[in-house]
Formats: sequence, C-alpha cells, structure tokens
Amino acid sequence: MGKVFPDGFLWGNAMAAFQVEMGLGEIDSKSDWYIWAHDKENVKNSLVSGDCPENGPGFWELFRDDLKLAKEGLGGNSVRLSFDWSRIFPEQTRDIPVTVGFDSFGNVCDVGIPADSVRLLDERAYQPSVQRYREILTECRRLGLTVLLTLYHWPLPLWVHDAIACRDDFGHAVRRGWVDQTTIVEFAKYSAYVAKTFGDLVDLYATLNEPMVVSGAGYLSKDSGFPPGLSDPSSFVEVSKNLAIAHGIAYELVKKWDASSCSAYGPAYVGVVHNPQYYKAFDKDSKDDVRAARFVEYIQNEWILNMILKGDYDLNLNMTIEKDEQRPSLVKGCDFIGVNYYMRNRIRAAPSAILGFPGYETVPCTENCTDMGWEIYPQGMRYELNWTYNLYRRPLMVTENGIADAKDEKRSSYLLSHLGEIHKAIAEDGVPVKGYFHWSLLDNFEWARGFKMRFGLYRVNYETKERKPTKAVPVYKQIATTNMLEE
Ligand code: FCB
Repeated sequence: MGKVFPDGFLWGNAMAAFQVEMGLGEIDSKSDWYIWAHDKENVKNSLVSGDCPENGPGFWELFRDDLKLAKEGLGGNSVRLSFDWSRIFPEQTRDIPVTVGFDSFGNVCDVGIPADSVRLLDERAYQPSVQRYREILTECRRLGLTVLLTLYHWPLPLWVHDAIACRDDFGHAVRRGWVDQTTIVEFAKYSAYVAKTFGDLVDLYATLNEPMVVSGAGYLSKDSGFPPGLSDPSSFVEVSKNLAIAHGIAYELVKKWDASSCSAYGPAYVGVVHNPQYYKAFDKDSKDDVRAARFVEYIQNEWILNMILKGDYDLNLNMTIEKDEQRPSLVKGCDFIGVNYYMRNRIRAAPSAILGFPGYETVPCTENCTDMGWEIYPQGMRYELNWTYNLYRRPLMVTENGIADAKDEKRSSYLLSHLGEIHKAIAEDGVPVKGYFHWSLLDNFEWARGFKMRFGLYRVNYETKERKPTKAVPVYKQIATTNMLEE
C-alpha cells in the first residue's frame, strides 16, 4: 500500500518570470534586477555572477513546449508562474488616480481603485506583454494545468526602484522601491489590473514571494548580491512592514477585481508565499548560539506572518508587541500560506548587525550539501509545515522545494525524502497541505548566482535551448499521476 495524497492535491512546478522568460530575443530591460545583474560594479565585486538573464531558457517564446513538459512529461495538474510587473507596466502609473487611506500612524491602509482608473491602466499597459501572458495562461487552461500566479517575484520596474542609485547614495535616491509607501499604492494598481484582466484564467494567487528575502537580502546584508545591497536595519524594518501592508491591500483588490471562477478555488483564493526555515543552534550547549538561533528564527519565520495575519507589527524587534504595535486595521486576510522549504541552517552567535540584538552567522554546510551550499534536511519540511499551521491555522501549499544539483545525483532522493515528510505532515499530523510545487521545471537564472545553479527537473542547454529530462522526471511523474508515494 502506498502513501496516498488527498484528493485534488495540486502537483506542479514553480517558476518565476525573470528567471525563465528571457533567452530567445525579446528582452525586458526595464526592471531593477535586469540592471542589477548587468551592473559592472556588481560584477567586479563578485556580488553577482556576471551571467545575463537574456541568455536564459526562453520560456517567453517556448512556453508551449515547456508547459507540455509540465503536463505530459511530469504528469502535473498545476503550475506556479509569476508575471513581471515591468513587462506589463514598463512606464509609470503614478498619475492614474486612486483613493488612498492612511491609519493613525500614517501608513497606507486602504487603496480604492475606481473603474475608470482600471480603464486607464489598460491604456497604459504594454499590450504585447498582456497578450503574451494571456497566451501562456490560455495554454495552461487548455492543458488542464491549474495556475498559481505570483504577482511579485522580485523584479521591480525601474520607475519604482533605481537599485544602483540606492546602493550608491541612498540619501539622495528618489526611486527607492519598497522603502517608499508609494510602492504599495502602485503595486495595488498593478494587482487590481492583473486580477481584472486575467481573472477568468486564474483563481489562485500569491501576492508576494518570500518577502523576508527581499528585505533581508536587500537591506541587511550588503554582500548578498540582492538589490539594493545595503546594510541598513531601519530600511529593513520599513521594507518588511511595507511588504506586509502591500500583501493586505493586494489581497483585497484581487478579491474585488477577479469575479470569475475557473476552478474549485475560484474566483480568487489569495495567499502569500513565505520561506520559514529550519534553524538549529550550532552548539546546543552554548547559550549565545541558542539565543541567536531563536532570534533569527523569530525574525525570519515569524515576524512578517505576525504582521500579515495578526496585525502585530513588532517594529522595534524586541519580540513583544507593545500597544502601539498593534495594527488590526492592516490585517485584510490570507486564504493560504505558501511554504518554500529547502534546507537546515546552523546558527552561531556573532557580532550584532542590529544594535542591542543578538548577532548571528550561518555556519557553512559541510555534509549533505547541495550545489548552493544548502544543507539537505528533509525532516525540516514536516517541522515547518506543522509550525506554520499551528501558529497561523491556514491551509498550506508547498510552493517551492528543490535542489541545485548539476551532476544530477541527489535530486530523486531529495524529492522522495521531502515528499515523504510532507505526507507525514498530512497523514500523521493532520496539517492541511493542498499542493506541492517543485522548484523548478527548468534550469533557470538563479538571481545573484546565475546559471551555474541547476534546479531544473529538465536540464537546459543555454546555447541551443534544448531541454533534457533529469533522472527525477520519471520519479515525479509516477507520483503525480498516481497521487501516491510508493512505500
Ligand atoms: C527561492 C526563490 C526562487 C529560487 C529558489 C532557489 O528563494 O523564491 O526564485 O531562486 O529560491
């Protein structure tokens, strides 16, 4: 007898627009990440690989073949995709009128978008991109692939974020991305427009992908290779807060503007994708290591979900909620939580980056490591699913899980062991996990690390754009088509 997954379980793969779309001609150069990846200083300082996203897999042109792989090659019934905001709105939308409400702390807490403004947004949108995204979604529909659409998977339009100016002279930069609350308002317009325009083909939405990577890698660690490459704790707090607010506002607007259903999840089932990570004190007998591990676990795993789901904005990071940190008016809803899980982190105390708070560093992986240097630890999957559900009581989806494995030696066992843990979380612990999206369908542009990191179930030859199955393809297909893991 095998380990059977619940009826209607979503079996899919996850991709992000910027990481897969370019490669065969049509280039989107109007995002912060595009400029960031090409920036000579960044390349010279080895902050980024020097690989160019325009040499990527070319999903923008080859999407029909690739979606066929997702369906027929892998036996999936769903796919997680994102749209790039800069493809739809390469030009600014700031002058398109909306009403903005503020809470008593001066935070944007409400954005109203009149129907006329949605019409103006449609006039402003770059129609060839809108059309191509429709073709992609229509093809998913034709193949019977349920789409989970991520609205924001990291690149920001250049008119929203000039990451190089922020890196070089933050004090004088004017387009400061998520540091500015105006970005919440513009993101609200984009989200409403997407829901209105594509709602007939999409029911499942993730507002944000891994907000803590955006704020943590972008604003806490200038060596991370992520834009804008600052170490500035107060911007880190501001960006995290603004992302939490942006989720809530997009949540409401997507629900408002998508009126049509195309699946049992319809018209709009809207969540956020988070990456709770498994942390372990490097030395369990060291009080400092234990304290550091607990602190990083709180900041990385708990802090932003407390904002989004409970309205607890612990802005002074002291792990308690004072009266003026309770912001119930910012809680709008979250129908599910997407869990991205990859690895275990061993944490050791280190000098503090934030005054008065325990500092920490991640101890490099030495055993069971992936090409990223991430430690393989399947049990952490079950732990994080339980943790997330117990604290927040929302249905979950595993929205990413996978391995950079250029030699194709460990992917199959990684897949099987992690699925085994997901099954235990469902069958033994009663955690409502609704789907599994493997990262990724294809090898792709791994942000600062470029093309060397090969996460694809299908290997991509970047010269010829040819796709070749890895050993894990038949393994995944067997599981997805039977909805069952063999004992
Ligand atoms: C996650 C990102 C995704 C991909 C994987 C490997 O943090 O969401 O885009 O880069 O890591």
